[in-house]
Amino acid sequence: MADHASRKIEILPVPGLPEFRPGDDLTGAIVTAAPWLRSGDVVVVTSKAFSKIEGRLVRVPSDPEARDAARRKLVEEESVRVVARIARTLITENNLGIVQAAAGIDASNVRGDEVALLPADPDASALALRNGLRERLGVEVGVVVTDTMGRAWRVGQTDAAIGTSGLRVLHGYAGEVDSQGNELAVTEIAVADEIAAAADLVKGKLGGLPVAVVRGLRIHDDGSTARDLIRPSETDLFRLGTSESIAQGRREAVPHRRSVRQFSDEPVDPEAMRRAVASALTAPAPHHTHPVRFLWLRDEGLRRKLLDAMRASWESDLTSDGFTPEQIAKRLSRGDILYRAPELVIPFLLPEGAHTYRDERRNRHERTMFTVAAGAAVQGLLVALAAEDLGSCWIGSTIFAADLVRSTLDLDDQWHPLGAVAVGHPAEPAPPRGPLSPGDWLIER
Ligand SMILES: Cc1cc2nc3c(=O)[nH]c(=O)nc-3n(C[C@H](O)[C@H](O)[C@H](O)COP(=O)(O)O)c2cc1C
Repeated sequence: MADHASRKIEILPVPGLPEFRPGDDLTGAIVTAAPWLRSGDVVVVTSKAFSKIEGRLVRVPSDPEARDAARRKLVEEESVRVVARIARTLITENNLGIVQAAAGIDASNVRGDEVALLPADPDASALALRNGLRERLGVEVGVVVTDTMGRAWRVGQTDAAIGTSGLRVLHGYAGEVDSQGNELAVTEIAVADEIAAAADLVKGKLGGLPVAVVRGLRIHDDGSTARDLIRPSETDLFRLGTSESIAQGRREAVPHRRSVRQFSDEPVDPEAMRRAVASALTAPAPHHTHPVRFLWLRDEGLRRKLLDAMRASWESDLTSDGFTPEQIAKRLSRGDILYRAPELVIPFLLPEGAHTYRDERRNRHERTMFTVAAGAAVQGLLVALAAEDLGSCWIGSTIFAADLVRSTLDLDDQWHPLGAVAVGHPAEPAPPRGPLSPGDWLIER
């Protein structure tokens, strides 16, 4: 037994209510049909009754196709956001924050040429009825306005409270201890929804009984309303439906990649590396070739040998450029990332399958074509790594040490290094990118 109920509750139907139309006096009708109301009762009213008296009925065409189109337009108008699309049903959020199929627009228990929108402000509707019943019957009741809703994780619908007045809508058990001595840290019962569902056992769905009374609860009015039952978006784990999440993930895949230069010690899952390379190999390439090779330098000794040799060669270039030892040390330190990164991949252009022409001009262009295709694959690798939650940074240095790379790694002169990719788990989450705009980089003619 919950502490918001006494030992026994009753659910009383309120028969004899008329078919409501816009402008009707709902309070008066309930007063007439249920003069037996008592303080402490909860009057549970189906939202359709309020939709009708508040004039939230909309005429729709009788032709099924036109009717469908009109309903779709209404769903759009009543929604602030599409949460999910399931076959032909849209789950949307309305301007009150209520997430429901088709924005709660419903054609049941209304005339064939009408559909009912939800009441504009169901908490206000509940309050008005509660005040009216106090005035006319001298009773202090709670009011729950209900609507029927599906549940994400369970088959079948139940009634839920979309508007309330005069009762505590949530009962939190935080800090309380059950009979076994366990502390109930997270249990918070949506009492108003339970009342809505319980009353529906009596009201049913087939019309004629839009109101029931739940008697025997302790209603504990604390000023909360049905709005308090709407999960704030920060704690909404399922803010988007599956297909919307996938669409957003796709849109964000490319900009999600950032150059990451500081890594944590967390080891990189080799399977994630392989998946990322496999994705990268889907990059477009000429003549149905794969003009790229990814050399994953897993042997620590070999990595060090290559990097030390590249460092010595760079140092000698910088010395002959006339830089001071301090300037040289500063520049060389930029290459430290390749020593530090948990994993290192060296991408190569391997122009296997490239066409050979009689003239050098076309050969040069062919080479450019293969180089850009290999570059596309490297970007693909970085994006695929980011999708695996792995950070990466593309470092150009091996391009300037091609002979040395080939000799150290024992590769023939068809292998053209395209830099090196440092990979690891980011030490810090990357700051969000600003809003994306093509700006002056997109020329539309
Ligand atoms: C071919 C190539 C070579 C690069 N070389 C270096 C490098 O040597 N050192 C470095 O820190 N970043 C290097 N970068 C990364 C760029 O600095 C980086 O992409 C740029 O700052 C934009 O930042 P973002 O990648 O986070 O969008 C290179 C990028 C490319 C495509």
